[in-house]
Amino acid sequence: MKIVVVGQGGREAALAHSFRSHGHSVLVTPGRAGIPGSTVVSALDLTADLFVIGPDQQVVDGLADDLRAQGKNVFAPGRQGGQLEGSKVFMKAFLKASGVPTANYVVFAQGHSERARLYLQDSAGPWVIKTDYLAAGKGVLVTHDRQEAIADATAKLKTGAIVIEDVLPGQEVSVMAITNGRQFELLPFAQDYKRVFDGDKGPNTGGMGAYAPAEGIVTPALVRPLVESILTELNHQAIDYRGAIYIGLMVDEPHIRVLEINARFGDPETQVQLPLIQNDLADVLLAAAKGLDLPPLQIAGAAITVVMASHGYPENPSSGDVITGLEQVASITDSIVHHAGTSQNASKQYTTAGGRVLNVVGLGPTIARARHTAYQAVERIHFVGQQYRSDIGLKH
Ligand code: AMP
Ligand code: GLY
Repeated sequence: MKIVVVGQGGREAALAHSFRSHGHSVLVTPGRAGIPGSTVVSALDLTADLFVIGPDQQVVDGLADDLRAQGKNVFAPGRQGGQLEGSKVFMKAFLKASGVPTANYVVFAQGHSERARLYLQDSAGPWVIKTDYLAAGKGVLVTHDRQEAIADATAKLKTGAIVIEDVLPGQEVSVMAITNGRQFELLPFAQDYKRVFDGDKGPNTGGMGAYAPAEGIVTPALVRPLVESILTELNHQAIDYRGAIYIGLMVDEPHIRVLEINARFGDPETQVQLPLIQNDLADVLLAAAKGLDLPPLQIAGAAITVVMASHGYPENPSSGDVITGLEQVASITDSIVHHAGTSQNASKQYTTAGGRVLNVVGLGPTIARARHTAYQAVERIHFVGQQYRSDIGLKH
């Protein structure tokens, strides 16, 4: 079939790769020079059998509704379902209504910084301060420092509402479900490495790497009831949800609590989950988009992805540095390089153009083998100021 993937990062490159490997023709919009099949034409002007929307912003903006209004098959929720990601206040109230455990929280409306200050003065930390609104991965601060918490809350309240919640202990796991609105299929669980430096040090990022399957943290049997409760509540609120649900879990046995819900596939989790799916992913996503029964997923193998980021990421990423070694990596069996933040200069060399530049994926029968392959590939690639974590896949 012909498939349009909306987006231009590593997640969309991985989706396109997966579709192409099953013989489908794929357009990625807007895409980028290093992502095959890229086109700058708006998704609304394209024809295809299936549209898959990657990024949060386009989901929250309701691109799926606009495409469905034109009679297209879309794998992504519309504006209503997108609220789960677009508003933390909505998401927290939704979780409460569905009976799914989450951190205790309070909401402060835009501009109410004096109230937030009084709350932070009187409550015991640590605190998690989250913007209600999308903030390009920079919306969450976890801190023990009261003054830092007050300053952060005050700054965030200038733009919109905030949620202040308790810090939850435990191990994080990324759960992805594909749903047709009635039934769901779980992808293999993944773990994401959010901090910029080895050993989970330094500031939070959009994700410095991931591996799948993440085993030994939580079982599908414990997770399924949570997803069922979320689907029941979606139906109760008459929200037509056909797409991916990303559930960020914090597991602290016997407690399993939801940190967040995203209304899309994870990035970089997708890059390690999709290669484990043996089915033709296009068939699964088209069935979900049409509200038809989902085929069971067949899962095998392991994958890790290492994010190569530019100098200064995440605060102040540099751009324009020439990337070398990509041709050599092409010959490493079981490795894939997805472009996430690259551009091409006048001499057709790939250059850095964003914080997270490349996603280097290694595949194998085990995480150890996949890890070996991924780092073998990483070592062949070079650009000035490159940063990557050397411990991806070690915490499994
Ligand atoms: P979110 O955007 O809600 O996913 O938050 C980003 C990251 O902040 C999560 O992946 C966690 O690592 C951390 N985080 C968010 N909420 C909490 C919480 N209540 N307790 C501990 N860590 C959290
Ligand atoms: N990996 C985190 C996210 O996709 O939101």
